[in-house]
Amino acid sequence: MIPHLNTGMLHELYQRRQSFPLDEDILGRLNSSTPSPETLQFLGMLVLWKQPRHIFEFGCGPSTLFLSRLQHRLGATNRPVLTTVDHSQRYLGETRRLIGGDPDVCLLHAPLAVTECAGRVFTTYHPSYLRQVPRDVRFDVVLIDGPPAYRYGREAPLYHLAPFLTPDALIILDDANCRPEQEALKNWQIAWPDGFCVEQFPGLPQGMAVLTIGESMTSLQPVARPDQRAGDLERIKTFLSTEGGIFADGH
Ligand SMILES: C[S@@+](CC[C@H](N)C(=O)[O-])C[C@H]1O[C@@H](n2cnc3c(N)ncnc32)[C@H](O)[C@@H]1O
Repeated sequence: MIPHLNTGMLHELYQRRQSFPLDEDILGRLNSSTPSPETLQFLGMLVLWKQPRHIFEFGCGPSTLFLSRLQHRLGATNRPVLTTVDHSQRYLGETRRLIGGDPDVCLLHAPLAVTECAGRVFTTYHPSYLRQVPRDVRFDVVLIDGPPAYRYGREAPLYHLAPFLTPDALIILDDANCRPEQEALKNWQIAWPDGFCVEQFPGLPQGMAVLTIGESMTSLQPVARPDQRAGDLERIKTFLSTEGGIFADGH
């Protein structure tokens, strides 16, 4: 079964990404190792659209602060819980300090290790962090922005988290223009031959890919009707106007 990815809406959100207002203090923390401003803006649009209950992030940093603030701005009723894992105690500590003890953010440490997963060997997060993920939690947005540097290192996290995904989860792979990330996309397609959809956004610095995976974890989503699409855009527009953003058409 092929999972549905609403490509029209994704590209619309991409075109409008610059509408998303970024806090000055977050902008000031971005560097060549962190997501770019444009990447965060598109991520913000995706989260606004998806309204996730649970977000999982591989690789903590300014993006964690960005996502935790966004979940607060989305309000208590829609508030997603954010879990982030990182290999670096230094950056976990830095991120913990940034988010100021927010109880809705769970920071996990996982050392990098050579581990076997899905029949192959990876240098990636040691999977023992999964023991700290509650069995009944299902993530509907996953950001894969770590670990850095190791070939195939970002491929394994999706195998780790697959049993914890909602059927319509959005998986966001940062730096998708890079060769190891392109290899990960190819290998995921081999791992889930019956259902895998991907949209790539190579125009972002280092690129980004947004994907869903299919059965046995995913069910077919109906194609969004034009009135649903209009409703989604209206909701995002209302949010952005209250946050001081301008709902630009982006073209
Ligand atoms: C591709 S970076 C991005 C991680 C994260 N999503 C972010 O917003 O920075 C990968 C690694 O950089 C480290 N890192 C976190 N914050 C950083 C910062 N401000 N500057 C440099 N590296 C950072 C973390 O150990 C993280 O796993």
